[in-house]
Amino acid sequence: MISLNIEKTLGFISKENVFAYESQVKAAQDALENGTGKGNDFLGWLHLPSSITQEHLADLKATAQVLRDNCEVVVVAGIGGSYLGARAVIEALSNSFTWLQDKKSTPVILYAGHNIGEDYLYELTEYLQDKKFGVINISKSGTTTETALAFRLLKKQCEDQRGKDMAKKVIVAITDAKKGAARVTADNEGYKSFIIPDNVGGRFSVLTPVGLLPIAVAGFDIEKLVAGATAMEKLCGKDVPFAENPAAIYAATRNELYKHDKKIEILVNFNPKLHYVSEWWKQLYGESEGKENKGIFPAAVDFSTDLHSMGQWIQEGERTIYETVISVEKTNHKLEVPSDAQNLDGLNFLAGKRVDEVNKMAELGTQLAHVDGGVPNIRIVIPALNEESIGGLLYFFEKACGISGYLLGVNPFNQPGVEAYKKNMFALLNKPGYEEESKAIRARL
Ligand code: PA5
Repeated sequence: MISLNIEKTLGFISKENVFAYESQVKAAQDALENGTGKGNDFLGWLHLPSSITQEHLADLKATAQVLRDNCEVVVVAGIGGSYLGARAVIEALSNSFTWLQDKKSTPVILYAGHNIGEDYLYELTEYLQDKKFGVINISKSGTTTETALAFRLLKKQCEDQRGKDMAKKVIVAITDAKKGAARVTADNEGYKSFIIPDNVGGRFSVLTPVGLLPIAVAGFDIEKLVAGATAMEKLCGKDVPFAENPAAIYAATRNELYKHDKKIEILVNFNPKLHYVSEWWKQLYGESEGKENKGIFPAAVDFSTDLHSMGQWIQEGERTIYETVISVEKTNHKLEVPSDAQNLDGLNFLAGKRVDEVNKMAELGTQLAHVDGGVPNIRIVIPALNEESIGGLLYFFEKACGISGYLLGVNPFNQPGVEAYKKNMFALLNKPGYEEESKAIRARL
């Protein structure tokens, strides 16, 4: 399902030192399994894939069908872990060009609640004006300002445009079982709702309804996605020997690189459809590991596009980086470079070759150049962009993240630092309950 190759890190770190992590990784795996490590009240993701029932999937699919039957557009309102997983999967699997065409069977999926851009929200509401649209409102806490604000706008517009009864049918809430304003609204309005389990944090929630419902609405096979993740759960299980466990090797390698002053990990793809997988990965690793003044900084680039922008820095800038490349073995379509009688562009040496062969040589050439330039390279190969392999890839990264956070010695399942900006923002906006903070912050301005 996935092959992990660390050979091109070995001029920088030794295999012996990576394998020396075996006992620490085992301890981390045991702590995850036994719930004895930091953040042990947030381990619901660990065996989530294998515990998803057919009834649950059927409920999600039936709800997705109601939205598909009644909406030209579905807006997914959420931020951070409450939207990145769905977007990662949907964009990895969607046609790059036909997604914005209004089609009868599949609604266009748009996103809101992940920014407070007035122009963005204005233009979204304007675009929706003549559309039959629905909303999936996703917030575990149910109180996140960005999402709540967008949902307030969307709810009103949906009710105004489609009437209260239809709005009730096409608005779905995914939130806590009991707490938060999103739960109160869902219960009061009678929306169909799904629960985000207490023990699954936002960035680990892609395989809960948070990810699964939007993915199903977009027309993708959530059974196959879950099957891919379940297979990976086994492949990365605690009894799999260290040398055969990709999550263990990845976690150990990145921690060993970090010890050798490789403070920045750049996730690389050679396929633009993986852009949001990188965004999801950045959140997963950034929020999980960046604390107590430690943590690898997770960055991402899309190649070959960014070889023409960030390529220079990566080749010759400060040597504090390493790359992790996600390579897709097989494309879903075939396209050959045509021959041209005049050959004015000099490209006939490529005639008859698959475009993917050119891309793969760009990938190989880049790997060799960057390693020569002092950038260690981890390579992850997935067979193709399909539900199974993406499901497997997401679970692989989650499992490696849990292990890696424990190797680093932090609690990978909390995010205390995220509150700092919120407190200031609420104080500046005079939110009731923030009177003291308001006074204090204004004295600093
Ligand atoms: O990973 C996390 O926990 C966060 O990124 C949250 O997902 C994000 O802040 C959104 O929170 P909520 O779902 O409570 O609106």
